[in-house]
Amino acid sequence: MGTREHEIYDIVGIGFGPSNLSLAIALEEHEANTSERPVRAAFFERQPRFGWHRNMLLPQATMQISFLKDLATFRNPLSRFSFVSYLHESNRLAQFVNNQDFFPTRQEFHQYLEWAEAGVRDRVTYNSEVTEVRLVEAADGVEQHLVIVVKDTVSGAAREVKARNITVSTGLVPRMPDGMERDERVWHSSEFLAKYGQMNPEDLKNVAVVGAGQSAAEITKYLHDMLPQAQVSAILPSYGYSVADDTPFANQVFDADAVDHYYFGTEKTRDAFWRYHKNTNYSVVDDDVIRELFRRSYEEEVAGEQRLHFLNLTRVKEVKRSGSDTRVVLHSLLDGESEQEMDVDALVFATGYSTLDATSLLGDLDKFCQRDEEGRHRVERDYRVVTSGELSCGIYLQGGTEHTHGLTSSLLSNIAVRSGEIVDSIVERRGAGEKV
Ligand code: FDA
Ligand code: NAP
Repeated sequence: MGTREHEIYDIVGIGFGPSNLSLAIALEEHEANTSERPVRAAFFERQPRFGWHRNMLLPQATMQISFLKDLATFRNPLSRFSFVSYLHESNRLAQFVNNQDFFPTRQEFHQYLEWAEAGVRDRVTYNSEVTEVRLVEAADGVEQHLVIVVKDTVSGAAREVKARNITVSTGLVPRMPDGMERDERVWHSSEFLAKYGQMNPEDLKNVAVVGAGQSAAEITKYLHDMLPQAQVSAILPSYGYSVADDTPFANQVFDADAVDHYYFGTEKTRDAFWRYHKNTNYSVVDDDVIRELFRRSYEEEVAGEQRLHFLNLTRVKEVKRSGSDTRVVLHSLLDGESEQEMDVDALVFATGYSTLDATSLLGDLDKFCQRDEEGRHRVERDYRVVTSGELSCGIYLQGGTEHTHGLTSSLLSNIAVRSGEIVDSIVERRGAGEKV
């Protein structure tokens, strides 16, 4: 896409995962339904092409939300960008319905996302990493605006783009336990398929996966499938996997209404959301995956050929690396004392993610952003960071708002509605402040 150097965009989107893809669609649909000047937008993504957690696109892994919680339907049920529209265009609608499953595979949903992206591709530039955002103060007929520095990830060249607003949608950040380093034998789940693909499966005779969340369980199952001769160990911090609560009452925490209840609630309200419903998403695993892993383990026990091992209440204390040798020092919480060493050919840390934090990207701009007592950004209901009066430009967050907007912050459940709210906010604020 050709972004224009002299243009001041109404909004520049940083990152082009599902959140900003959904925003691009909301902008497209706003434009089609208004006679006002269009919202001028540009998006930058550091990947070479669209990709949604590609390294975890494991066969048979399913979505954790209904297909109806797609990029647009909850905001606009008539959208041409809906999952149903994608199925129709792919000539698969009838078969999808016959399959009677609310939860498509992640691979099918990825195909849907790619199909939707093709419809708004003119708004996004790939191989483009945003490295800095600066403020340019109003002067001599130039209005206050932001300068977004974009690095071409292929050539390394940097260029600048101007905007009145940005939306930071850079996603979750892979988290390794303290002191653990990644390398060609020690991986985080976010790089799993790429790293696994670089190995000769015959060299993988002992593999281990750390963690008890969905990523850990799916990778354990995958390695057990793909390496029929290997010993596969699951190193669980818990006594066993816990089930993800996706029953109907609990699932209401992902509704659009729940954002208001959370945002306008008291500290006690917000605490209650986390205390009672954290198990809808964090450190939990889908019921069918848990049962499948247990079934496999039991079958092996019956056959007297155990190669799937569950080391419960166990944590990795140290990883000793030398060439292709990897020795893992394990600490058992069963007695709080015993240590065990295990040699592995590959070790996967499926230890989760940290939430989006825009601080480093915002640089000096961050001094205009207000923070709460715990040092977190204050955020308005329309996802705009609360800033001091000198800054008229807007910083919108898609992600990193768990403390203000609740559990859906880093998930897909509410992105269609959230995108619409951000478009409305930009249009309303533009109408209120624009001098043109
Ligand atoms: P996402 O991380 O998808 O995208 C951010 C993008 O920004 C990336 O493409 C990245 O390259 C880019 N980027 C980062 N920094 C940049 C920079 N400085 N410049 C330019 N580009 C930059 N949720 C759910 O509701 N249902 C589900 O089924 C799942 N499934 C799921 C599977 C797996 C394996 C994981 C790890 C997570 C999920 N999730 C989920 C949660 C997940 O956060 C969610 O699905 C989306 O990825 C959120 O979309 P975003 O666009 O916000 O972030
Ligand atoms: P997660 O749910 O945060 O789980 C991380 C696991 O690692 C937890 O069991 C955690 O234990 C453990 N852990 C963290 N630090 C550790 C340490 N130092 N030592 C040992 N264990 C440690 O992360 P995730 O499984 O990657 O899931 C992240 C998100 O992606 C979730 O929203 C999930 O639903 C989603 N996801 C979806 C799919 C899918 O759609 N099919 C697939 C994978 C992931 P504690 O509980 O003790 O912290």
